[in-house]
Amino acid sequence: MSAARQASTYPALVQDLADRGLLTARWRRVFEAVPRSRFVPERAWRQLPDRCVPVREADEWLALVNSDEPVVTQLDDGVEGGPGIATSSNSMPSMTARMLGLLQVEDGSRVLEVGTGTGYVAALLCERLGDDLVHSVELDAVVAAQAAEALAQAGYRPHLRVGDGEHPWPGLGPVDRLIATCALRYVPYALLRQVRPGGIVVAPLARTFWSGALVQLEVREDGTAVGPFCGGATYMPMRSHRVPDLHEVRGKGRARAAGLDPVRLLDLGFALYAGARLPGVRLIHQDTADGARVWVTREDGAAATAATGEEVWQYGPGLLWEEIEHVWWEYESAGRPDADQFGLTVTSRGQEVWLREPSEVVRPARG
Ligand SMILES: C[S@@+](CC[C@H](N)C(=O)[O-])C[C@H]1O[C@@H](n2cnc3c(N)ncnc32)[C@H](O)[C@@H]1O
Repeated sequence: MSAARQASTYPALVQDLADRGLLTARWRRVFEAVPRSRFVPERAWRQLPDRCVPVREADEWLALVNSDEPVVTQLDDGVEGGPGIATSSNSMPSMTARMLGLLQVEDGSRVLEVGTGTGYVAALLCERLGDDLVHSVELDAVVAAQAAEALAQAGYRPHLRVGDGEHPWPGLGPVDRLIATCALRYVPYALLRQVRPGGIVVAPLARTFWSGALVQLEVREDGTAVGPFCGGATYMPMRSHRVPDLHEVRGKGRARAAGLDPVRLLDLGFALYAGARLPGVRLIHQDTADGARVWVTREDGAAATAATGEEVWQYGPGLLWEEIEHVWWEYESAGRPDADQFGLTVTSRGQEVWLREPSEVVRPARG
């Protein structure tokens, strides 16, 4: 989701974020004090919908860094000659601003960031809270070393660790706030135990059915966490949470007229609902001139593909497209709720999506 909004200078970018209501006066001062360019290495790529393209010229680099777009800083986990998939980046500034706003830090808040990346978010947190209250963990040692260098050059010394942020930071003790800047398929319960009761967790979630959404959770006395979804968010996944490829499709295709334009499945509210009703169903899509083409698969070999204005093809056992249409009609009967009416509860037993109230859990359609 690369935004088209461009800003030619960093102050203009910060002004743009403030004009869009994404920065409080305090965060505005923090962003102004921490130029993004100090945290973007020379070697960078622009993220296009289907690939990353290298940024070759200095003026192109500067324009990208001063725009509201993500800047990709590593491909293929740093392995040369790979397929060119972004594995580390300096996130889209408006997304960073939204997440930091949702984190609701106060003076004295002790924060843990999962996914140091370029170090920019850690620097913003240091500028806001002071170095000693900021902790950031990065899985990739090369990325972590670059971030440590950039942070030191800019005068910040947060607590940094190279390790897997899916697990608690040994010996750290409880923090007041946790921000994940890589997407999770589920919120690991072990991570919640790193946050004190009353603390806040902000993370992008990306499950198999849909593209991604931010969630803001408050940790309760009993260690569970509850809170709302807060709009869409596309982040690169935590390494161990990468979504598997489409499942293998079995059997011959059967065509039928579509009772639903596949473009409707891409509404985030529906995606949250359907993801909870049809766990394990994987959906990917591509925009087309008329709307969208979608592919859905399930591990039992059931699959379907549909494009706006065309017939639907279903494969394998069962009738997956019909199940999806059924879930769509349920969603419609529920009043087509927007994404912000959904929320999430995380307990030691797993996580549940709910609609409007934590007690109104959206349960799987099967079993
Ligand atoms: C979008 S980047 C983070 C952006 C960063 N906050 C910044 O300010 O530039 C996501 C980062 O998460 C890291 N990552 C992925 N899985 C991780 C894990 N299990 N633990 C810690 N970091 C992880 C990736 O290596 C990548 O650098």
